[in-house]
Amino acid sequence: MTASILVVDDVPGMQEILNHSLSGEGYRVATASSGEEALTRIEEHEFDVIVSDIVMPGVGGLEILEKARLLDPRVAVILMIGYATIDTAIAALRSGACDYLEKPFPLDELKVRVRRLIQLRNELWKGRLQQRALQPRPDGPILIGESAPMRLVRDQIAKSARARSNVLITGESGTGKELVARELHAGSARRAQAFVAVNCGAIPEALLESQLFGHVRGAFTTAVHANPGLFAVASGGTLFLDEIGELPFALQVKLLRVIEERHVWPVGATRPVPVDVRLIASTNRDLGQEVTAGRFREDLFYRLNVVRLELPLLRERRGDIPLLVDHLVQRLNAKLGTVVLGVEREALRALISHPWRGNVRELENVLERAMVLGDGELISLQDLPGSLTASEGGHLTDLREAVRQFERQHLMNVLAETGCDKREAAQLLGISLASLYRKLNAIDN
Ligand SMILES: Nc1ncnc2c1ncn2[C@@H]1O[C@H](COP(=O)(O)OP(=O)(O)OP(=O)(O)O)[C@@H](O)[C@H]1O
Ligand SMILES: [Mg+2]
Repeated sequence: MTASILVVDDVPGMQEILNHSLSGEGYRVATASSGEEALTRIEEHEFDVIVSDIVMPGVGGLEILEKARLLDPRVAVILMIGYATIDTAIAALRSGACDYLEKPFPLDELKVRVRRLIQLRNELWKGRLQQRALQPRPDGPILIGESAPMRLVRDQIAKSARARSNVLITGESGTGKELVARELHAGSARRAQAFVAVNCGAIPEALLESQLFGHVRGAFTTAVHANPGLFAVASGGTLFLDEIGELPFALQVKLLRVIEERHVWPVGATRPVPVDVRLIASTNRDLGQEVTAGRFREDLFYRLNVVRLELPLLRERRGDIPLLVDHLVQRLNAKLGTVVLGVEREALRALISHPWRGNVRELENVLERAMVLGDGELISLQDLPGSLTASEGGHLTDLREAVRQFERQHLMNVLAETGCDKREAAQLLGISLASLYRKLNAIDN
């Protein structure tokens, strides 16, 4: 398949030269004479490579880069820069541009760079797909996200992983709290030891104490065997106390004592057992508020909240959605035995716009459903649940899309009202019958 290239330059002569020379190499070339036009083009078509001037009146090359990456993380970008913009370009390279050319440059150099980028891009993505499809997933947790809030999280993980300090991870449901806890363990000196997760909300109160701290044989009627308890199992490693906000008050006192004394009292024991665990707790509640309300002990809160990691909502880092989708699709392929390659452009757009109240977990569920029900290599808009494609479904990325969706909904309403009488609908809408047909066609496509 021939690669398609978008050339963006506000100087018409430059556009022509680049177009001519790249078409001559057999590529399909489209041109845009402004950043705004380029944005329209990348919304309408998928390009393999974008060659863009960095400085243009209005929308510049960096903005194009950002938007293009959001729609398709695979796109390769070459920025054409002047001497004065070298620093900006280098910053852009770090943010994921692929290459830059300093003006003036020989056309042959451009051709070489384009060819190399396409090759690299294909290898990179083909390699990734094959690697992920053929091999079981690497064991370690993989936290995806290049957005500023995720970089901050990763930075905090890197800084706090090696310390022994207790960590409190907060964030709404599905934001990746458990994944981050595993990352912290994997990055710590304790990584070779156990990582033990306990869901404090899922175990009945009567059982939780002996589950956590253990019990001796005969401690209570059903205690036929001794149980060392999860603290002992995690000794040397990490104990993850999930949903710590659910921990009953009586156990909060006992947990506090364990933290302070560094040993546990198994139920029925006459002697304490020393333990060495790192505690990571997580909650989707506002623990500070729980403290104020008298439901959570303040002293325990301070003990747990030594390092705080606050996970961002998915809708606060929409830029990560394409990367996450790619990652989750590959992971689900391994789980479901499917060979889905990715997501169609329209569907990706819907995924980017959705409010994601259930965060990454909801995204994962939506993809899994689409992969089970769909039958193509790519997930399409039809494979997504109605709530994602309906106009009220989301917070829209751009005005044009919002208008388009509103228009579609409005047309459908008017058609329904008129019993699908197009002539009457056109009259009500105050447009010609021909333009109604045009609009309806546009919706169908
Ligand atoms: N940044 C991320 N990169 C890759 N996968 C992620 C990321 N965040 C979450 N996930 C995935 O989303 C799913 C939910 O994550 P996780 O269980 O860690 O969330 P949680 O905050 O503990 O949710 P809950 O409050 O519902 O227990 C998991 O399958 C996890 O692997
Ligand atoms: Mg969880």
